[in-house]
Amino acid sequence: MSVEDNKVLELQQRKERIRFGGGTKAIEKQKAMGKLTARERIIALVDADSFHEYDMFVEHDGRDFGMQDKSLPGDGVIIGTGTILGSPVAIFAQDFTVAGGSLGFMHARKITKIMDYALNMRIPLIGINDSGGARIQEGVNALAGYGEIFFRNTLSSGVIPQISVILGPCAGGAVYSPALTDFVFVVENISKMFITGPEVIKTVLGEEISMEELGGAKVHSEMTGNAHFYATSEDECFVQIRKLISMIPANNTTKAEKIAPARPLPEYDITKIVPADPTVPYDVRDVIKALVDESEFLEVMELFAANIVVGFGRVNGETVGFIANQPLVMAGVLDCDSSDKAARFIRFCDAFNIPIVTLEDLPGYLPGVDQEHAGVIRHGAKMLYAYSEATVPSITVVLRKAYGGGYIAMGSRHLRADFVFAWPNAEIAVMGPEGAANIIFRKDIMEAENPAEMRKLKIQEYKEKFANPYVAAAKGYIDSVIAPAETRMFIEHALKVAAHKSRSQPNKKHGNPPF
Ligand code: HXC
Repeated sequence: MSVEDNKVLELQQRKERIRFGGGTKAIEKQKAMGKLTARERIIALVDADSFHEYDMFVEHDGRDFGMQDKSLPGDGVIIGTGTILGSPVAIFAQDFTVAGGSLGFMHARKITKIMDYALNMRIPLIGINDSGGARIQEGVNALAGYGEIFFRNTLSSGVIPQISVILGPCAGGAVYSPALTDFVFVVENISKMFITGPEVIKTVLGEEISMEELGGAKVHSEMTGNAHFYATSEDECFVQIRKLISMIPANNTTKAEKIAPARPLPEYDITKIVPADPTVPYDVRDVIKALVDESEFLEVMELFAANIVVGFGRVNGETVGFIANQPLVMAGVLDCDSSDKAARFIRFCDAFNIPIVTLEDLPGYLPGVDQEHAGVIRHGAKMLYAYSEATVPSITVVLRKAYGGGYIAMGSRHLRADFVFAWPNAEIAVMGPEGAANIIFRKDIMEAENPAEMRKLKIQEYKEKFANPYVAAAKGYIDSVIAPAETRMFIEHALKVAAHKSRSQPNKKHGNPPF
């Protein structure tokens, strides 16, 4: 054996030791919790044999509390690059088997190194979080590490897609890195996110709550809106991430890869989904599926604010972001949460050159003291801001109702939609016929011999005058009234026409959205 062979053997042995992470006991504990190890996760996520690891030999530099005598393989985090469906991605994965994946100075240096790579190479960043938080023995050096990560998350925002995967605890200030990224993935029984844990809550407030109830996957998917994708297993989560990566561009200077066009599946017949009666609900996701290639729709934040649906689909092979009122849930009204959800999604699409298609069918904003006091004015304004500042191609189709503030907010011409179409049964007006008749014909109704009959008559009169698309079309607010069956054809054409859209904005450092 030559000297070189010896060195290569030694290298392999060193690597093997490091790959063993925190050792058998810690790995067994990880598995007992139903979790994969950090390396297994990366392998499951990326294309076969595509992962290249960097900084494998990095060691911690803790000097206190006995740390100086301890070795922490890779300092508890794995970084590298790989490919997903052939597209390069940068990855870090915290290794809970090594000091609980806690974040010390060198651990943070590795993460910030791969974040810098991702930004410089203009490729997506995927961070797998599984950590006990700031490494307590390293004090302020650990906190400094988090600060450096948050700074880079912000710097990269709108330049490269950033994805956070919560596959274990993500506690304390550590949660702010995922919160700054574009998409957060969680897994049932595995993900736990909170600023202060159950112990602190019990001590300070005397309240008892389990980790799962406080910050489990369901909580963040349904209640807080911190998570965008919910999976029941790690494997399902990795499939979701791969799907998402396939539909979005690598950075803000390019478009998502166009694939071979396909037709929607015949079982989604667009002419049969929306009931003529404006009070009868339907699932707007069926309309989206009737419009997109292969009827394949990747829904984002499916479980949160379900009165609005957002997600990605392809039209003629090109990725499009859909924003659609959902008549199945609260009649599709807008409220604080649905406005937040839509606004963030619109801003992602706009930052990453993804055209927007808005499907509108809503009675307006949700009335009520709760909403007013929860700040529906501020939250609702986010959506107006997001649509108004978006310069990607924007196509709006009024499927049925478009009343009041809802008409303006849902990608109207006035907020600079490029193409606005309406179906013939659309109702575009300040408010619904019933409410409108009660107000403007109150005197006529009250003084009538038969108020109920008069009310009916006046509702009909209002409907004929305003509850249709032609008043808006007469003013040019609607470009075309189209038959439902023509919708995909009109969207396809609009996308083609807008392929090189260029709309300049006034010079500014940045706007000041109502966050
Ligand atoms: C150092 C840590 C650690 C930490 C865990 N470990 N968290 N070491 N710093 N923050 C170590 C443990 O000592 C243990 O080491 C190993 O990781 C596994 O931890 P266990 O407690 O045995 O695991 P488990 O029972 O599964 O509990 C996981 C846990 C718990 C719930 C995450 O470890 C925990 O509560 N950790 C502390 C969480 C915390 O308060 N972090 C600081 C948050 S403040 P051994 O050697 O025994 O195997 C923060 C500020 C950031 O992060 C601010 C940014 C702005």
